[in-house]
Formats: sequence, C-alpha cells, structure tokens
Amino acid sequence: MPVLDLPVFADSKKNAQTENAIRRLTGVYYTLPAAAEFMANWLVRHDGEHVLEPSFGDGVFLQAIDASAKQQNLDHIRITGIEIDEAARARTRNRLSDIASDIDADLRCADFLSVAPFPVQAVIGNPPYVRLRHLPDDQKERGLRTAESMLGQPMEPSGSVWMPFVLHAMRFLASGGRMALVLPYELTYVRYGRPLWEILSRNFGSLQVLRTHERLFPDILQDVVILLADGCGECTSTVRYQAFERVEDMGKNRPVVDEQISVEGLLSGQRLFVEALLEPELRKLLQTRVAEVTTPARNRVTFNIGYVSGDKNFFHPTHQVVREYDLPKSGLRSTLTSTRTLKGIGLKTSALKQENTDHLFLPTGDILAPGERSYVKWGEESGVSSRYKCRVRDPWFLVPGIRVPDLVLSVFSERPVLLINDAEHLASNSLLCGFTSGPTSAEIVTSWYTSLTLLQCELEVHALGGGVMVLIPGEAGNIRLPRQVCVQEEHLDFLDCRLKKGKTTEAYQSGDGKVLIEQLGFTKEEVKLIRQGIEVLAHWRTSSRSSLLTQKHPRTEADC
Ligand SMILES: C[S@@+](CC[C@H](N)C(=O)[O-])C[C@H]1O[C@@H](n2cnc3c(N)ncnc32)[C@H](O)[C@@H]1O
Repeated sequence: MPVLDLPVFADSKKNAQTENAIRRLTGVYYTLPAAAEFMANWLVRHDGEHVLEPSFGDGVFLQAIDASAKQQNLDHIRITGIEIDEAARARTRNRLSDIASDIDADLRCADFLSVAPFPVQAVIGNPPYVRLRHLPDDQKERGLRTAESMLGQPMEPSGSVWMPFVLHAMRFLASGGRMALVLPYELTYVRYGRPLWEILSRNFGSLQVLRTHERLFPDILQDVVILLADGCGECTSTVRYQAFERVEDMGKNRPVVDEQISVEGLLSGQRLFVEALLEPELRKLLQTRVAEVTTPARNRVTFNIGYVSGDKNFFHPTHQVVREYDLPKSGLRSTLTSTRTLKGIGLKTSALKQENTDHLFLPTGDILAPGERSYVKWGEESGVSSRYKCRVRDPWFLVPGIRVPDLVLSVFSERPVLLINDAEHLASNSLLCGFTSGPTSAEIVTSWYTSLTLLQCELEVHALGGGVMVLIPGEAGNIRLPRQVCVQEEHLDFLDCRLKKGKTTEAYQSGDGKVLIEQLGFTKEEVKLIRQGIEVLAHWRTSSRSSLLTQKHPRTEADC
C-alpha cells in the first residue's frame, strides 16, 4: 500500500528548526501511519457508515480509513474531512487522487469549530494542540463557546484547542457512534481536562485510553495517548487503560499494562494513569503503609515560586554595574537566580561561593541614594519600567513578595536538590522556596531525601515533552513526606558529602536505610519495590523514537 508521508521539509538544519517552530504554533503534528492504521481498523466497521476527520492535515487518517474499508470489503464508507489550511487540503486532495482515486471523500476547507453538525457514525483524527491564548481571537472565542455550551461551565482559558475539538466532534456522533482520537497526554492529568472525563463518561458506553512508549509523533517530543470512545448515547464509570511498549504491540494486543481506571478518581484529580503503571504490590504499599506514615509535604512545608523581578538583568546588577552606579549595599540583597548554582554545594546554601550568588536591587527606605536614583532613571530610560510586571507595581522598581525562604528546591530535575537556606539568600522564580510550618529545616531535608520522594516525584510532578520534570508548588506540596523523623547529624553530614560530590541518587538512597527502614519500619523488600517503581515510571516518562519510521514505512520520493 502506498503510504502518505510527512510533507517535504527543507533539509538545512536551520530551516527544519523554523519549520518545527511554525508547526508547534499551528499544531501541525502528523501522526505515525501505523497508529492511524490501528485506529482506523478499530473504527471502520459497517458498510454505509459516514466517518468524519475534523483536521485531516496530510490525510494520514483518510488513507487509513480507506485501506481499512478495502481490507474488510466495505465499499460504501463515506468520509468527510475538514482542514483549516487550504494549502494542506489541496496537497492532500492531489495526493489522494494520485494514489487512491476511488476514496469517497468530501474534503472541505473550514475551521472545524464553525462547521454545523451533521450525523456521522464515527470520528477519527488528531486535533491541533494549540493553547487557546495563542489562537486568533475569533478561533479562541469559538473554542471557548463550544466548550462552555457542551460542558455547561466555562473552560479554563489556559487550556488547549484540542478540548473544544473533542466536544464539537461529539455533536456529530449518531447514537451508537464511536470516536478514535490522538490526544495530548496532558488529558490524563490536567485540571482543565477533568470536565471532559465527566462528559465522556456520561456519553459513551466504553472508554479506552492507549499509550505507547514509542512516540506516535515521529519528529517532536509531544507525549500523546489514543482515546477510543464507543457506544455514543450510553454511559460508563471506568476507563480501560492499556500501555504498550511499541506501536506494533497495539495491533497485536500485547499490552504491558491493562487496567480499569475509575472516572470518579480522575475527577478528584488523582493521577491514576501514572499509578496504573506500577506493580499492584507497590500500589497497595502506597495506599496502606505509605499513606499511614506520611503526609502531603504541604502540611509541613509550603513551597512557593520565588519572586518575579520583571527584568532579570536590571534587577540583578553585575558587580561592574554596582560599581558604576555606586549602588549602596543596603539596597542589594544576596539572592539565588539559577538552579545550576545549587548543584554540588551540599546541603546548605552557606557553602555557596559568593561569586555564585547574585544581588537583587531592592532599595530600602523612603529616599533613594544618589546612585540608586540614577539607576532607576536608567531603568526608565531603557524601558524596564514599562515592562508588564514592572508597570503594574508602585513604585515599579520595588520587587514584591520578598521573603527569605527556609529551604530552596531546584525546579527542572527528576532528582531535585533541596537545600537548607542557612545563608538566608532570597530566591527568584527559577527556584521553589520552602517555608516550614512547625518542623525544622533539618527535619524537612531528613524527610525529603529518600527513594519514596523520588517515587512521589514521578507520581505527582508533570514532565515536559521529552521527559524533563518541572516542579511547580502545587505538585511539590503533594509529595508525601514522613509525618515525623528524628534528625541525626551524622546522616545530615553524609547527605551533605554526597550532594557536594554530585551523587544525588546516593543522597536519596541513603535515606532509605536511615529513614524508611530504621525510622519508619519499611522492609528491604519494600524499599526495593519503591526503587523499582521509580525505574518503571522514569521509563514511561521518557518516550522512545519510533523504530517503525524507517523499518515499516521507508520514505520514498513518491510518498513525498
Ligand atoms: C495535529 S495536526 C493533525 C493532522 C492529521 N490529522 C494527522 O494526524 O496527521 C492538526 C491539523 O489541524 C489543522 N487545524 C488547525 N486548526 C484547525 C481548525 N480550527 N479546523 C480544522 N483544522 C484545523 C492543522 O492545519 C493541522 O493540519
């Protein structure tokens, strides 16, 4: 069978990068043909049915539907395809008529959200994943309106257009109809997606989510899942979740995980799609012993983002600028502005060399010193004062929310480092600031450095495409810490020494013996189970490039 491939991209690296940036903005990510074939084989069932593809792009699903219909000897499958980009529509129209002239497809150029519903038995596709705020105003408004009218409540405007797409697609489905969609992985955990689970469970008799470790988008680090919704007009309280190593395992129905997930749990914000990847024994341990002896970190320490200056360079003047303007020491506060500075210095910020800290320009008192006045004037002349974060405060040069944290925590890491801020530095929004509520900072770090925290990070903290974890305050606050620990100086020294040597994993693992086993009574086998759980979740967090790209679908000139 001839296979449509990605459009031809210029081969110079720079052009490819530009191309990728444009695609990210327009949501033009084309699906791996093997995944489209799997979905079409699930979707195409009866002669005479009408299938809708709401954003067909290069037509990978149109072709997969046609192929599946032919395989099943179904001669009368009607296809309607919508695509907003006229050039893509025309290109696909030409390709399809070259390679499969008998496809019965009506291919229209339109914004899908403005297409009035007509009855179809099936919807297939991969909607654009563009944040509503990045869309032209009219499209954004349509998206918000569609979502609100279907959900009965406003959609969070921070969300992405895939959600109104799914909701609008549901309006086309006739009773008993079905839907097969590639959707971003964030569907499984973002707050704005929760109302969607509710409406899906109230409108479909069966829901299935499939995930593959192998990436479904060949060129980009976008994690996705496949949603299969069947039996429109019925309802269900569960989602079947299947995880596969490779895309080809889906076709062979060889899942490594096959679990039923409760919609109620999803609505209450539980990360059930991550938990389901763990061994049942470990899940039981988390629900019983771990739940008993731990409490969410927020009950012992509050994590906040550091201050937002509004202009990193201006508010953190270099030594040279300090000298040039003769800025007085009283208006300069030592601060941390980069996670990198926390690495390899041990457990306490007092070990930081002065050259690795910055100064925050924070004039005190009612009257500015002459140097400060000139510096402020320069900030006004060079436009710093009119930057958004600055112009909304009065006076513009006083950074708000300044408070010395008890602890500082790195943000972008699967093994975040937590330091006692004994040097009383401030910290910018490149870091998380911890403020203890009761326990000492030494108790918090003793509680923090165990494998249980790393497992909790995998369970609670979201990752960017490509698997880079990003700790945000709410998620850091969800990490469960022991309710009580006993601080041992010797253990703190050991942690300090490991962190100084950059051996972060060893620092975490040292707490397994000293805290989990000796203090909380976990067994060695339970610790082993926890460590295995970290490995499993780290594996799923970092998807792999598709081997099918080169093996099963070699790109030929004709394909392009
Ligand atoms: C993620 S791509 C998917 C293309 C194709 N379905 C696939 O999986 O290979 C999304 C497509 O949606 C199109 N698109 C974006 N906004 C749209 C809209 N409002 N209505 C219809 N199509 C849209 C883009 O031009 C792009 O081709």
